[in-house]
Amino acid sequence: MKVAVAGTGYVGLVTAVCLAEIGHTVICVDVDQEKIKMLQSLKSPIYEKNLEEFMKKNKDHIFYTLDYKKAYQEAEIIFIGVGTPERYDGSANLDYVYHVCEQIKGSVTADKTIVIKSTVPIGTNDEVEKFLNKESKIHFSVASNPEFLAQGTAVHDTLYASRIVVGTNDEKSKKIMEQLYLPLTKEPYNVPYLSMNRRSAEMVKYASNDFLALKISYINEIANFCEKVGANIDEVTRGMSYDSRIGNQFLKAGIGYGGSCFPKDTKALHWLGKSLDCELKTVNATIEINRIQKLKLAQKVKEDFPNLKGKKAAVLGLSFKPGTDDLREAPSLVNIDFLLDYGVNVSVYDPVALDKFKSSYKRKIKYCTTIDEAIQDCDFAFIMTEWKEIKEYDLNHYRKYMKTPFLYDGRNCYSIEAAKKAKIKYYSIGRPS
Ligand code: UDX
Repeated sequence: MKVAVAGTGYVGLVTAVCLAEIGHTVICVDVDQEKIKMLQSLKSPIYEKNLEEFMKKNKDHIFYTLDYKKAYQEAEIIFIGVGTPERYDGSANLDYVYHVCEQIKGSVTADKTIVIKSTVPIGTNDEVEKFLNKESKIHFSVASNPEFLAQGTAVHDTLYASRIVVGTNDEKSKKIMEQLYLPLTKEPYNVPYLSMNRRSAEMVKYASNDFLALKISYINEIANFCEKVGANIDEVTRGMSYDSRIGNQFLKAGIGYGGSCFPKDTKALHWLGKSLDCELKTVNATIEINRIQKLKLAQKVKEDFPNLKGKKAAVLGLSFKPGTDDLREAPSLVNIDFLLDYGVNVSVYDPVALDKFKSSYKRKIKYCTTIDEAIQDCDFAFIMTEWKEIKEYDLNHYRKYMKTPFLYDGRNCYSIEAAKKAKIKYYSIGRPS
């Protein structure tokens, strides 16, 4: 089938490449000239395993263009995968989605199925369909098709998805979507295909992401409690995980979740609930616990070093999780701000995200390309991201290079025994120090 994809960000590009991989002819549209040029030379603006490889492999049936008119006109199906950033009040900003809809309206001359991949508040698909069909001679059907990909495993998460969720309100687009995804429901992918109404599909996305975020906040709260009662969160989660109803995923206690989805999607659903006079209390608690959790180590440092002014600290790991240079809502950001506000001299290290951080962060800190350099003469160090380089760093080096070896580990990278053996002052999350 002929598919156009509006937006070549994470969601748009991965969707496009995967649709090409299963045999469809895909044309990607973006307003960013540099990005399109880069894609045309078969380079991906983001790093994702297999992405560039599949761009090259399918280059005879995946194209990149600024010319949205032609792309939308020729496509049978148009995917919208543009950003829906968070507004100041937590609601989702749909300006980019509507901008694409206006362009679609001004371009096409035959009936079309429009698929919304971007995460949008419940009811948006209905609104978009109304908007597209208003004073229009042709008919638009809108389908909701949320994505569940995680950064770092995006291509695999799309091709070997846990499920494909498609919400439609009319038979025609229901059939078209079934046909589009047919190859993914067969060998070797065997992805379950779930057809439902549009509002349910929109809700599946929020309910799934917010549940995962809730799991993290829940285990972080339990971890904090473990510290009070002398239990060890690693042992507690191990004990819990043998119950298959609980499972062992998304129960890793730490310094809180970040990224482009959980923070935004929890706030958006909470905002929507409030606006409908139906507050989602568990979602609110998830957000609040995460906000406090991000500064847990900073609060501990304040207890251990009542006078922080002039102290030297290292922050190890900047990205919101390993395997990406994405800094959105990363716990490192609020912690660095906290330390600078208290007059601490901060050096930072990250194996991948250093340049990206440098280009957007305006306050004065020292950028280091090795952990040895970052912790040199420091009074204390924070671990914010569990990069392999950080997890495998020799604990003895903290004692060797730091002024005083106080290590605050937000990702529980080391065992308590190993820290004791290395004779460093080690404080982690939910475990006895
Ligand atoms: C997430 C969802 O996993 C994905 O399905 C959705 O489509 C988009 O949001 P992503 O944001 O890429 O994906 O990262 P993920 O691996 O889920 O981690 C999110 C955050 O939670 C990270 O900051 C991570 O450190 C944190 N996390 C995750 C924990 O603190 N503990 C855990 O047990 C798991």
